[in-house]
Amino acid sequence: MSSTSEMPMVMAGGRLAMLTAHLVPSTEPNDHAPVLEPQSLSAAISPPGNLKGTLTIVDERTGKRYQVEVSEEGTVKATDLKKISTGKNDKGLKLYDPGYLNTAPVRSTICYIDGDEGILRYRGYPIEELAEKSTFMETAYLIMYGNLPSESQLADWEFAISQHSAVPQGVLDIIQSMPHDAHPMGVLVSAISALSVFHPDANPALRGLDVYNSKQVRDKQIARIIGKITTIAAAAYLRMAGRPPVLPSNHLSYTENFLYMLDSFANRSYKPNPRLTRVLDIIFILHAEHEMNCSTSTVRHLASSGVDVYTAIAGGVGALYGPLHGGANEAVLKMLSEIGSVENIPEFIEGVKARKRKLSGFGHRVYKNYDPRAKVIRRLAEEVFSIVGRDPLIEVAVALEKVALSDEFFIKRRLYPNVDFYSGLIYRAMGFPPEYFTVLFAIPRMAGYLAHWRESLDDPDTKIMRPQQVYTGEWLRHYTPIHQRPVSSNADKLGQVAVSNASRRRLAGSGV
Ligand SMILES: CC(C)(COP(=O)(O)OP(=O)(O)OC[C@H]1O[C@@H](n2cnc3c(N)ncnc32)[C@H](O)[C@@H]1OP(=O)(O)O)[C@@H](O)C(=O)NCCC(=O)NCCS
Repeated sequence: MSSTSEMPMVMAGGRLAMLTAHLVPSTEPNDHAPVLEPQSLSAAISPPGNLKGTLTIVDERTGKRYQVEVSEEGTVKATDLKKISTGKNDKGLKLYDPGYLNTAPVRSTICYIDGDEGILRYRGYPIEELAEKSTFMETAYLIMYGNLPSESQLADWEFAISQHSAVPQGVLDIIQSMPHDAHPMGVLVSAISALSVFHPDANPALRGLDVYNSKQVRDKQIARIIGKITTIAAAAYLRMAGRPPVLPSNHLSYTENFLYMLDSFANRSYKPNPRLTRVLDIIFILHAEHEMNCSTSTVRHLASSGVDVYTAIAGGVGALYGPLHGGANEAVLKMLSEIGSVENIPEFIEGVKARKRKLSGFGHRVYKNYDPRAKVIRRLAEEVFSIVGRDPLIEVAVALEKVALSDEFFIKRRLYPNVDFYSGLIYRAMGFPPEYFTVLFAIPRMAGYLAHWRESLDDPDTKIMRPQQVYTGEWLRHYTPIHQRPVSSNADKLGQVAVSNASRRRLAGSGV
């Protein structure tokens, strides 16, 4: 190898060394052993069976009885409740469900979660089995088209995706024009949204609502988005480092190509570490889909208006950007750093029990058992440390988990580690800055978003999503001229808009 082609590899190694300087030196990895040993699966439970029947409702307000049909899946139609009314001015019973705690706006065949049992399955396959045996590309195909691909189907899928991995120069220019400290999730949202403009051929606003009736058009957008997302994510990463984007390499696997774009300095002979690549590929599998969470339901919501798929996905990524959704692993890292060492754990736990703070990475809206993804991630952490060095915070994390899982406070509330408890440690050990963690979540989630988009296009029940509200405002008022309006000091009004010192300086001048 010539000295010029060697240099970028040395620099990439240097980057890893610099970013992982806090780690203890590593041992030699074994390239041939599987990254994940076989694991016992989460509990096997029987399907609920046919729940079809009739529900009789007695309205104690009027004494009337109503019969409402219950479907095979154990649902009632919310619109069937409209007929339950007290009289003329009552428009009928509505479901008040802030946060959609018990409302299903779609029927779906993509993903199954049983939070009580700690079960997650994609198209019926347990997540543990996919993590151990599958690849992200294969799993993405499964999520998208319903079955594991044949050899030739997988080859066609990978080829189509790699063929669409180049990003229009205009989108790269948009990324480059952003401030160097722009949050990479903000960059991602803008770049995906910009793709909508660069692909007018796939825009129902320009080509008509039936443009997505064509399977070819749909498949092309799927290949484009999954293909381009790693290139955009890599460009956002390189932008943070003040480096120009690197073109994708078509002869590498999906995840390998992503790491190649981050670390190669455009040296075409660079190849990322195969075991680190496999770890990231497994993490991609774990994050590929999670049914109607906040961002996936956002994608379906936007798509229901008939908007183009890029705008719908950009909206979903916007929802993922929120710290209550995609950003919790960063909070775990901060918490572990604050605790600092194992001896400080009892005091920290007492603080949590006294409600002074939360135990980040614990608890989940759906999982009231160990999150099955967290089990896999915990095992991956050791693999990563064996390559790049052990993060001392892992000892704190393991001891903290042990203490919490045996404490009555957490047992009673069914609080277990979620997927974020260990993932931040892995990302940090792999040299990713905290603000990039959510991008690593967004990349594989494209598979889930697009599978839901596809499913919504074929579902005869799909309607533009338009929830109701419960109106609690003033009933009726009449307009009064401005000088005759009573002024109440309690009424809501515009507050003090913060003025910067720069504005004060300008306002102190004349001619303003
Ligand atoms: C994820 C989360 C928002 C779920 O919230 P939720 O389903 O609305 O659950 P609740 O907030 O109602 O929690 C139920 C009880 O457990 C407690 N609890 C929940 N998570 C807790 C945590 N991480 N640490 C301490 N107590 C917690 C709540 O205080 C509440 O106690 P109470 O009944 O005595 O008031 C919540 O568990 C949380 O904030 N976890 C930490 C953040 C995190 O890791 N998020 C990533 C999710 S993937």
